[in-house]
Amino acid sequence: MHIIVGITGGIAAYKTPELVRLLVKAGHEVRCAVTEHALQFTTRATLETVSSNPLYSDLFAGNDHGTEHISLKDWADWMIVAPATANCIGKMANGIADDALSTLLLAMPTQRVLLAPAMNSQMWNHPSVQHNLEVLHQWGVHTVGPESGVLACGTDGIGRMAEPVAIADKIRDLAASSTTITPQRRLANQRWLVTAGPTYERIDSVRFIGNYSSGKMGYALAEALAKAGAEVELVSGPTALGDIDSPNVNITRIESAREMYAAATRLFPSCHGAILSAAVADYRPESTADHKLKKQGDKGMTLHLVQNPDILATLGSMKGTGQTLVGFALETDNEMANATGKLQRKHLDYIVMNSLRDAGAGFGFDTNKVSIIAADGQITESPLLSKKEIAELIINTVTN
Ligand code: C5P
Repeated sequence: MHIIVGITGGIAAYKTPELVRLLVKAGHEVRCAVTEHALQFTTRATLETVSSNPLYSDLFAGNDHGTEHISLKDWADWMIVAPATANCIGKMANGIADDALSTLLLAMPTQRVLLAPAMNSQMWNHPSVQHNLEVLHQWGVHTVGPESGVLACGTDGIGRMAEPVAIADKIRDLAASSTTITPQRRLANQRWLVTAGPTYERIDSVRFIGNYSSGKMGYALAEALAKAGAEVELVSGPTALGDIDSPNVNITRIESAREMYAAATRLFPSCHGAILSAAVADYRPESTADHKLKKQGDKGMTLHLVQNPDILATLGSMKGTGQTLVGFALETDNEMANATGKLQRKHLDYIVMNSLRDAGAGFGFDTNKVSIIAADGQITESPLLSKKEIAELIINTVTN
């Protein structure tokens, strides 16, 4: 699971790195979030080391225009706050979001939050704290502890944070009894292959045959799959796009159709499905000169081309039970008949058809308009949407 561990400013924060260690040991991926005061009791270096992830402490520190709380919320299955101070509980119960942690806490679905309160007994027994907790419980927020014992102030009483082991056990039990799968983790434990971008077919040491594919659609598909929890193998031709900022996406960069073929056929057997959105060159020069070819006078020049392997058709013939194969078709005429023919010939489960007749759709644009045709004949049509939205529509259609 993906777990955010929030830490607020109480002495029990010195025990939280141990909780993080236990969660990581149990196989979870953990991101820590802190209030400013939490760092009086534990340190950035400690939390980043035990979680192996950067700490979230500032709403505006990243380069995502202050929206990291939303991407973190999308990433997380659960959020624990340990220790949760009276202040943190009070802010959550009253919808106050005035720092990174409280903002993130308000973005999380309440049923996916576990608080481990810790404070002095008198504070714990204060009617405002008890009232706030009652409100939070009504909204579905879970709590663990506090326990009774010696408190930091030297007195004996209720208010000690539950031990890290008890908090880790509680989140394990909550996850096991949770009947709803978080939508963002729908494809957890699945592995998907995506091909993207153009291929370059070398003519000589400085020239190639290529095409105008930008790779944007394939990269958006890889991102959408990763967001849904899948592990993604992205095989990409040369594009101007940088790496995708997700630990779930592994990029293999290739240049030619034959290199893409080798990577895709190697990766496909271990995948639940594949979406081939790359614009693969159908032909390549028969031979490649290892030097720059010289001009050959006025006679012109003949380039002899041979056919490249069809990656999609090959994966179609390799496809095993339970594997889903999705192709793309960029058509200029007879769109529906050509796309359906391809779907059948290449043993696909779905084909995503782009028509070059649609303004704003196809190569280079940030938008697209598609028809998703299923093997059973069902057709899902999209309006003109961003490639990100199209990617989500495709993923939702082909993984349901
Ligand atoms: O037959 P056509 O090239 O139009 O089919 C397009 C689909 O086939 C796309 O999904 C593309 O990624 C895939 N393709 C492939 N290998 C090729 C040619 C196309 O995987 N050599």
